[in-house]
Amino acid sequence: MDLQGKVAIVTGSDSGIGKAIALGFAAKGAAVTINYYKDQASAEQVHQQIIQNGGKAQVIQGDVSQISFLQELIDRTVQAFGRLDIMVNNAGMETRTSILDSTEQDFDRVIGVDLKGAFFGTQLAAKQMIAEKHGGRIINISSIHEDRPMPGNIPYCCAKGGMRMLTRTAGVELAPHGITVVGIAPGAIATPINTETLQDPQKVQKLNSAIPAGRVGQPDEIAHLATWLASDESNYVTACTYFIDGGLAEASLSL
Ligand code: NAI
Repeated sequence: MDLQGKVAIVTGSDSGIGKAIALGFAAKGAAVTINYYKDQASAEQVHQQIIQNGGKAQVIQGDVSQISFLQELIDRTVQAFGRLDIMVNNAGMETRTSILDSTEQDFDRVIGVDLKGAFFGTQLAAKQMIAEKHGGRIINISSIHEDRPMPGNIPYCCAKGGMRMLTRTAGVELAPHGITVVGIAPGAIATPINTETLQDPQKVQKLNSAIPAGRVGQPDEIAHLATWLASDESNYVTACTYFIDGGLAEASLSL
């Protein structure tokens, strides 16, 4: 897999899955814009790691729920690296609230970051790629909860369910422009979003036993798939989602 000469944006890439994707893309030759919201030190660390390995990267702070920021992210990427080939809508958060206790603020924030951010990230990246006349790749990091319920985390499920149809519909609309839109739906991956669960040995044991592969996944395992989807080798793949979950989603159906 080769990404030499390609330019990528990875939202939320100071941490977890986004960080692994940014490092993975850079290792294959892409220039990468690293985006973070709060943790500048971690973003700078990712930046340094890429530069030390001979790659190209820049860091941009901002909130993906703001359309004006998404446009800035794209404009500054093109200014720095000359073009845009790959947009990864990865930034995400959750409130772990149920239908009975979610507030308007919980709902608006999760939908704003996870769904609106990916929706306008897709739209604005596609407009840039169309203007550059070379096609492109849009990768949306959703979740197995784009399809399977997660009681107690309903705003997140609504946002990821929306991403499922964003990926399918935008994939169909953008195919004539040579732009593919593909979702990656991770299962349980060892990242800071799962800190509470991963710090509790009982919860880890319960989780591992629910996963047919017997363990949670690692961010690198998501990055390998994202790198292939970003490469020319995946030209004919669009408007669909890859589940990457050690079998978790299918196993939950047989409980
Ligand atoms: P994480 O907590 O390590 O990373 C979340 C990232 O989103 C951080 O880089 C953070 O800076 C960024 N972010 C949050 N709000 C933002 C905002 N308003 N603007 C810009 N960036 C913002 O967690 P993880 O696991 O790496 O999450 C990445 C994606 O993977 C998320 O979309 C998450 O829903 C998804 N995912 C994670 C799973 C897991 O088990 N870790 C499972 C399924 C999906």
